[in-house]
Amino acid sequence: MTSIFDLSGKSALITGASSGIGSHFAETLTQAGANVVLASRRTRRLKKRAKELKNPHTEISWVQLDVTNRDSVEAAFHETATLFGRIDIVVNNAGIASQGLALETTERTWDDVIATNLKGVWLVAQQAGQHMAADSRGGTIINIASILGRRVMGGVAPYAAAKAAVEHLTRVLAYEWARHSIRVNAIAPGYIVTDMNRDYLESPLGEKAKLKIPQKRFGRPEDLDGPLLLLASDASSYMTGSTIVADGGHLQSSM
Ligand code: NAI
Repeated sequence: MTSIFDLSGKSALITGASSGIGSHFAETLTQAGANVVLASRRTRRLKKRAKELKNPHTEISWVQLDVTNRDSVEAAFHETATLFGRIDIVVNNAGIASQGLALETTERTWDDVIATNLKGVWLVAQQAGQHMAADSRGGTIINIASILGRRVMGGVAPYAAAKAAVEHLTRVLAYEWARHSIRVNAIAPGYIVTDMNRDYLESPLGEKAKLKIPQKRFGRPEDLDGPLLLLASDASSYMTGSTIVADGGHLQSSM
């Protein structure tokens, strides 16, 4: 029996695919049968990852992409559409962390985080929407939000504000683009160990933070595979504007 999560014949673009969650998602979507383009700034890593994922059943490629730059976003979509004909799935995953208490956060830090984590998500989503709306088949856009868009902690003001905005943008775009058969949903992960946070999560402070998670463990990128495949596939055909939280219960705990 064919799986309801089967992505055979679909094409996907993943931003921020040179490391962490995005690099892992490339494998997940490939294994589900999709043709995948890995997009990010670090092309050497993309090339290496594309080579690792090469297989006889699906197409894997890569494009250089800076999500903060409109020309770069347009060029990446153009290249992907030329390669695969059309783009069915876009995972809006690229992001950067921010550190530092709000009283000391510089304008530069604020601008950098908002440019990548909010404007970048918007530029990629808009470009995806324009491609998908060009024919009646539509598509699915998956934005990567964060539980920090919902819960409060110190030292992450621009990051948390951007992630809260990504969830709301997800709802607005879902509402506007349903008429084009485009679904827009989000995943809000809890703490997943990646390059972005490994130093902190593996420190004594991180060990303390772990105890606040009801499941008493940090997540792995694989913990997001279920939400990803659900939102990427027709299994979620009646879902749009939703955010799936995958956090080991973290949002339910007190600080
Ligand atoms: P990561 O640092 O391993 O990956 C981020 C990726 O985004 C990298 O490939 C990086 O090169 C890329 N990137 C950054 N700026 C870019 C730009 N301007 N243009 C194109 N690519 C750019 O971190 P991780 O953890 O894999 O993060 C992926 C997403 O998941 C981010 O949006 C992050 O905010 C989100 N997230 C991560 C959590 C975690 O605990 N690791 C928790 C909640 C959300």
